[in-house]
Amino acid sequence: MRKVILDILAQAQSPVSGEELSKKLGVSRVAVWKHIQTLKKLGYGIESNSLGYRLLNRPDLLLPEELGDLGIKVYHFQELPSTMDVARKLAQKGETALVIAETQTHGKGRLGRNWHSDKGGIYFSLILRPHVYPASAHLLCLMTAICVAKAIRHLYGLKAKLKWPNDVLIGGKKVCGILAEMEAEMDMVKYINLGVGINANNTISYYAKTAVSLKELLGKEVNRKALLIEVLNQIKYHLGQPEEKLTQLWKQLSDTLGKKVRVIAPRQIFEGEAISLDTDGALIIKTAQGIKKVVAGDCIHLR
Ligand code: BTN
Repeated sequence: MRKVILDILAQAQSPVSGEELSKKLGVSRVAVWKHIQTLKKLGYGIESNSLGYRLLNRPDLLLPEELGDLGIKVYHFQELPSTMDVARKLAQKGETALVIAETQTHGKGRLGRNWHSDKGGIYFSLILRPHVYPASAHLLCLMTAICVAKAIRHLYGLKAKLKWPNDVLIGGKKVCGILAEMEAEMDMVKYINLGVGINANNTISYYAKTAVSLKELLGKEVNRKALLIEVLNQIKYHLGQPEEKLTQLWKQLSDTLGKKVRVIAPRQIFEGEAISLDTDGALIIKTAQGIKKVVAGDCIHLR
């Protein structure tokens, strides 16, 4: 309903009366007034005078009203501890949805790290229910990194590259991180929640040596809505693509392959040249002890 009100106001050349809105929407004028008050609280600049309502400006928020029809239910929060927690609860209730927060107080990174989530970034968790074996879930994270890199390249022409397993870098600095949580049975994924954090218009003060935001790179703010929509469209397009295609795309965008790397895996540390990516998303490393395949771990580029 609020989206329809906004569309009517945005298209109107002159103020739209409460009566006209109530007729168009088939609801009472009081109901219209209530929706207008909610929109104002959300940050929409709406002028109301004796002639009716006029839309003056829209807030820079990733509200469902702003994102258009994504074909998925959208939950938007000004602030959350972490979108992962909300997504997990929704997924356990059987929902498929997108959870967005403008800021997170306890943003989660990979391997138990924190993810600084200041205002201006893009923070979301996408609940998916893919028909894949649990072992293929890893590839979905790589796919998401491909999608973010492609969206950034497409919208801003920046040379976004991928660091194994699923970081997006520009000029060697991290611009996006991806975290996945999954619930699965032996032979079936119940759900996988893809958590994506993009340094869009936030300022990186904590990790300026290793991370960067798009605003800092471009010298101006980016349109976060356009970027989020592009990333989601890329995900829609790449979901279900064959493993070979995804690994081929990953290789094309890779910053890791050909580099000397150290990968800290759960029980072992591997050091050597990253030479390829297997079809399951594992990194192939040429070490002094021979060719090794690493399924998961923390990767450091040595040169
Ligand atoms: C990493 O590179 O360590 C992964 C970072 C993932 C951050 C995103 S922000 C949205 C979602 N909610 C979280 O708490 N974490 C992920």
